[in-house]
Amino acid sequence: MPSHESIIHSAEQFAKLQLERDPSGHDWWHVHRVRQLALELARSEGADPFICELAALLHDVADEKLNESKEAGLRKVRDWLSDQRIEPEAIRFVMTIIATMSYNGGKNPPMETLEGKVVQDADRLDALGAMGIARTFLYSGFKGQLLHDPDGNFDDLDYRSNRKTAIYHFYEKLLKLKDLLNTDTAKRMAANRHRFMESFLTQFYKEWDMVDYKDELEP
Ligand code: ADP
Ligand code: NI
Repeated sequence: MPSHESIIHSAEQFAKLQLERDPSGHDWWHVHRVRQLALELARSEGADPFICELAALLHDVADEKLNESKEAGLRKVRDWLSDQRIEPEAIRFVMTIIATMSYNGGKNPPMETLEGKVVQDADRLDALGAMGIARTFLYSGFKGQLLHDPDGNFDDLDYRSNRKTAIYHFYEKLLKLKDLLNTDTAKRMAANRHRFMESFLTQFYKEWDMVDYKDELEP
């Protein structure tokens, strides 16, 4: 069996190769941030660091948005894991996490294992705060979505529809995430990131509606 260290190193190379230049906010540096968050959460929550780090490194290689289908994405990761001579139990563990951790419009059932909770929280923390704001506008440009439409009502559109707006994404997902986190550590880390998004939206609407322009003219 290869050492955990060498498996992690290979997974890092594989994720870099697959996602290096992804233009939708799921690039290698997102994976790197999620891996760091997952390791911190694992340490503080007492989860298995090897499983958490490996699942974090591979989670977006299988993403349905970046593959022909969810099944094709999962197959790519399963084939890669099988080539690594990792314990079958660890392969099943990692595959279960990455197959079930997506937000999917809030429709997926809760994660069952501590390691699954940790990796899902890590991915969600990187969808919050300044990073979440930046990734939302990047993803919206990638999909050709509008910035904002004050008259739009998007509540009945499918979660994956590209006829919604970047600002709407805050309401359909980002502002809900703080109450959907699994671990206490992630909840504590989310508080500041959540407030930052709220104050961003407050300022966004002020500028949109020209609320403070007179103050802005003051020296
Ligand atoms: P999930 O599949 O778990 O919903 P995604 O990978 O789709 O997670 O989302 C990751 C990030 O990509 C989101 O948090 C957001 O920043 C961006 N994103 C996803 N869907 C949209 C969307 N419809 N509009 C704007 N940004 C989006
Ligand atoms: Ni991700």
